[in-house]
Amino acid sequence: MTISHEPQAGCAPHDPDNLLDRLSREGTLEAHYERLVERERRLLAENLDISSGAVLSVGSGWHPGRHLFSPPAFRLTAVDSDPERVAGVERLNRADEVHLGYAGQLDFPPGSFDVVLYRLVLHHIAYQGPLGPCFAEAARLLRPGGAMVAIEPGLWHPVGLGLALANRAGLATALHGTPDDIPLSPRRLRAEARAAGFEPELYAVTYGWRRLPPRLQRALAPLDALGSRPRAASLGHTLMLIARRGG
Ligand SMILES: C[S@@+](CC[C@H](N)C(=O)[O-])C[C@H]1O[C@@H](n2cnc3c(N)ncnc32)[C@H](O)[C@@H]1O
Repeated sequence: MTISHEPQAGCAPHDPDNLLDRLSREGTLEAHYERLVERERRLLAENLDISSGAVLSVGSGWHPGRHLFSPPAFRLTAVDSDPERVAGVERLNRADEVHLGYAGQLDFPPGSFDVVLYRLVLHHIAYQGPLGPCFAEAARLLRPGGAMVAIEPGLWHPVGLGLALANRAGLATALHGTPDDIPLSPRRLRAEARAAGFEPELYAVTYGWRRLPPRLQRALAPLDALGSRPRAASLGHTLMLIARRGG
């Protein structure tokens, strides 16, 4: 199978009959997600310096990010390219406002938000086209002193490298169900953020992988303490970019 880079609306369809989903157990994934959320909250509490305001979650999916930006301190606006997810978020009242829209084509007024969040979405957008228009859009939509926050899989972790190889070999769909998971290099994230006028900082959220047995995940968890050291951060499985817009 070859990888198409034609522009696409949203994520590629997921094929449930793939190797890793057949091997993974629900409890294994749950253990990882709990750890991920705990680490996301901690890194934001330690490094974001924004404790209230308006948040835009781009590619909000079913979970726009209330677990990170909760009311009443934060007002959350969710945008997704998938009408079903937009309707679901509205029905479940998971955001204060919900819109159908595409990253890079949003028409909110400049300076509308204190935080623009991309959580597990840029690695899909990287398959659809360049990241530059998204970062330029985030810079335009943020108030001075605001921050873009991106939480994405990293290329320099062994799992990221494996995924990149599977993508190249055309094996990604058979392996994990979609062709459009493009792990992102820390260097690229920083460079694209700087090109859009941000001052970027990078952290590792976790070094573990959701497919590993819970015991192994627990054994790897202490490594996460290295996630705030600049060199070690680049090797994380899941990265957090906090990119501030100068005032
Ligand atoms: C893996 S989900 C992540 C959802 C959510 N942010 C979370 O943390 O659970 C990726 C989401 O990005 C959306 N998406 C993909 N490409 C998009 C684009 N170009 N513009 C807006 N949303 C997009 C998909 O529809 C999907 O809901």
